Amino acid sequence: MVNRRAFLLSGLALYGASARDLFAGPPARQSPRFSTTPFTLGVASGDPTSDGVVLWTRLAVDPLNGGGMGSQPVQVGWEIAADEQMSKVVKKGTVVASPEWAHAVHVEVSGLEPHRWYWYRFHAGNETSPIGRTRTFPAAQRAVDRLRFAFASCQHYEQGYFTAYDHMAKEDLDFVMHLGDYIYENPGLDNRVRKHVGPELMTVDDYRNRYAQYRSDPALQTAHAQYPWIVVWDDHEVDNNYASVYQENNAPFEAFAIRRANGYKAYYEHMPLRRTSVPRGTSLQLYRPFQFGALASIFMLDTRQFRSDQPCGDNVKPVCEGVRDPKATMLGAEQERWLMNGLDRSRTAWNLLGQQVMLSRLDRIAGPEQQFSMDKWDGYEVARKRLLDFLGTRKPRNPVTLAGDIHCNWVNDLRLDFDNPKSPIVATEFVGTSITSTGDGADQLPGYKIAASENEWVRFYNDQRGYVTCDLTPKQMRTDFKVLEYVTRPNSPIKTRASFVVEDGRTGAQEN
Ligand SMILES: [Fe+2]
Repeated sequence: MVNRRAFLLSGLALYGASARDLFAGPPARQSPRFSTTPFTLGVASGDPTSDGVVLWTRLAVDPLNGGGMGSQPVQVGWEIAADEQMSKVVKKGTVVASPEWAHAVHVEVSGLEPHRWYWYRFHAGNETSPIGRTRTFPAAQRAVDRLRFAFASCQHYEQGYFTAYDHMAKEDLDFVMHLGDYIYENPGLDNRVRKHVGPELMTVDDYRNRYAQYRSDPALQTAHAQYPWIVVWDDHEVDNNYASVYQENNAPFEAFAIRRANGYKAYYEHMPLRRTSVPRGTSLQLYRPFQFGALASIFMLDTRQFRSDQPCGDNVKPVCEGVRDPKATMLGAEQERWLMNGLDRSRTAWNLLGQQVMLSRLDRIAGPEQQFSMDKWDGYEVARKRLLDFLGTRKPRNPVTLAGDIHCNWVNDLRLDFDNPKSPIVATEFVGTSITSTGDGADQLPGYKIAASENEWVRFYNDQRGYVTCDLTPKQMRTDFKVLEYVTRPNSPIKTRASFVVEDGRTGAQEN
């Protein structure tokens, strides 16, 4: 089985394309005349370092129907400036938007100054894009007073308006972290707030049209244009609850591997990712590190691509043998090693893990019987224990884990041993709610309210939509849970529902 899978993955290695293909191909149209703007999907930037950032756009005159750009490559000019008016251009160049990559471009700008804002735009033919704003991070080990970012996840287009992003764009942030479920794969359904275009996503074109529909949303475009983003995926960028090449309903993995490759390719095409994340065959390198001066190391994790299949048949179940399988993995051996080595080497004041699914144990039913969601770390007990043991013994400085996926807000003290209430807290977990997924919600809902009271390490639970802002200084990390009154109608106001503080050198969150 494993060999067959390895063979399949290597056989599909030519399915995608290598980085070199990005720059090859027939001569590009240098000055096409467009009758409507090809910059319908806006601009974005991401993966900042202390000397550079990725600039992104995709040309699409007919975004919901394959882009409408034809089969020829198009030359795209880019420029990045030190001022908002684009009068002090510091770097510029041209790239080719090729049909093989949906006429998307990813410009890796380097040689910029650390820790400052820049502005950028693109030109194609007779058209110019909107101006985006982005920034570089402080140089490694440079003392920094403050880092402020927001994290978000789960933006089901059919279940609500992206009002949260209008509010986020008005915050004062250094970057946005997205923890996955950027799109959802289901076909358009009637009687929802908005309707997906197209069928259940299978082909590259299906996935491209879906990204185009989401990225056509003005609020989402505004948030991308305002800050650099650091993104990772969860399951719905391909299919609900998939694990490696194993599909939810155990469909044949040959077909699913091709579907996964299609989803991964469209993900790369639409996200401001570096060349290191160009998909290869059915794989895409997404886990990667960031450093914000001496203040914070950020480890972005991929808990989908390498995990073993969920035990006990997915969903919420009592514990079966598979939960304690020592060979079961959430990160895969290589990523786990990379994470632990990185944490060991880190010298920053804070160490943040940006990942997808809840790390804390969460018994979902009342009384002595226990049931767990097998898609979360609860289904991978031995792998979780390895990570918590590592945090408890190697003691990286101020570890904090961030997650999404579950469509509600949680604050959890991560105990070394969840069965022992006197066991030390080795890290704090902040789980952010969805942008829209599952709709309006309410302050607390009965199902999770039971879970919140059933697990003594849970410090906070809330079931409204929104996002979380994080303020870090060398002395403390503060989180503010921003919630919307509603998402099924536009223009909801936003409020801070709760705030927590983690102090330097002291694990565990204090309500503020
Ligand atoms: Fe989700």
